[in-house]
Amino acid sequence: MSARLLLFTGKGGVGKTTLAAATAVALAAGGRKTLVVSTDPAHSLGDALGVPLGPAPVEVDGGPHAAQVDPRALVDASWHDLRGHLRTVLAGAGVDELAAEELTVLPGVEELLALGEVRRFAATGPWDVVVVDCGPTAETLRLLALPEALASYLERLFPTHRRVVRGLLASLAGSRSPESWDATADALGRLAEHLAQLRDLLTADTTGVRLVLTPERVVAAETRRTATALALQGVRLDGVVVNRLVPHPGDGTGPAADWLRTRRAEQEAVLAELDLGEVRTAEHRAGEPVGLPALLELAGGLYGGADPLAGTGVAGAALDVARVGDEYELRLTLALGDAEPALARVGDDLVVTVDGRRKLITLPSLLRRCVVVGAELDDTGLAVRFRPDPDLWMR
Ligand SMILES: Nc1ncnc2c1ncn2[C@@H]1O[C@H](COP(=O)(O)OP(=O)(O)OP(=O)(O)O)[C@@H](O)[C@H]1O
Ligand SMILES: [Mg+2]
Repeated sequence: MSARLLLFTGKGGVGKTTLAAATAVALAAGGRKTLVVSTDPAHSLGDALGVPLGPAPVEVDGGPHAAQVDPRALVDASWHDLRGHLRTVLAGAGVDELAAEELTVLPGVEELLALGEVRRFAATGPWDVVVVDCGPTAETLRLLALPEALASYLERLFPTHRRVVRGLLASLAGSRSPESWDATADALGRLAEHLAQLRDLLTADTTGVRLVLTPERVVAAETRRTATALALQGVRLDGVVVNRLVPHPGDGTGPAADWLRTRRAEQEAVLAELDLGEVRTAEHRAGEPVGLPALLELAGGLYGGADPLAGTGVAGAALDVARVGDEYELRLTLALGDAEPALARVGDDLVVTVDGRRKLITLPSLLRRCVVVGAELDDTGLAVRFRPDPDLWMR
């Protein structure tokens, strides 16, 4: 049985770590074997739980287990081998040692290794749920896109087919032994496999992203963009959590009650505009929610009596094809907000660009033999119309 994976992300400072911790505490209190892991190099998960954490999961006061992944330590340990191999390839290609050293520092490696560690925890531990405090959105999106991006980068550098790789390496070989090139090809093969596994993990039905935001317009705008980016990457968004909603003053009078009333109305107006479906909310507490009792109380307000594991049905990356008359319609369900997507057909792929992010949608075989005849945008996403092309059917 594979563990459910809940990834918490959002803009800096909105309460990701606190809500990931609160969710884990509530899941553990409900009897689920729960691990909460932080991949954020800033060690704040331990601060929220009120205990120091290390790279190995420890039980926190009869509640969830928790760990703090240290990507930098992982870089030294497991990346070392592959870098050695890459340096060998580059040296064989005549690149001098210093430049090879720089070229093998691939961006995003730390995030990749942190995610690999999460995968290892999820696959090997006794966990029903692994809750991940991912750190800020920008890094998380990079992290989520990374397996795909790196895989295509590697594919271009070193085509998958071993024979081709060997040929390529042999041509660079100079005086090196064939065995050393085999070892390099093996290392690259393992990296490609690792990337494919991470991609599978991120797009699995058992994985969901929970976006945390505060009820402010700029934060809401970023959250909508993130929801779109996730949908384009095929990662399921299964919850939107609004943190720091100020308490309602009821019938109270006086300047403080007036302030709260105005602030609350303002926050509710932002929520009404959010347009991401059902949201869960957590109140702004007078004190920082630190330690298990405070986190459990916060989770009580957040989930009410509902199961914290249950998602709230936000629009994900639904791709549907339907027949409409003698045409086909491909629907991509996305929260687009104000973004204007651009479309291009490149061979068997449809390229959708939203807010500078590109997504290649590999067309189902049915649609490959069609030409694009139109596209429409509405509140729920994008519809692209295709018409069978007799010239293409004949091939
Ligand atoms: N609902 C709340 N009521 C009161 N204080 C809160 C609430 N949520 C979070 N905080 C406090 O706000 C601060 C920031 O929260 P937290 O560290 O969870 O945010 P974050 O999104 O993880 O930040 P970062 O982007 O730095 O990782 C912490 O001091 C936390 O205790
Ligand atoms: Mg944090």
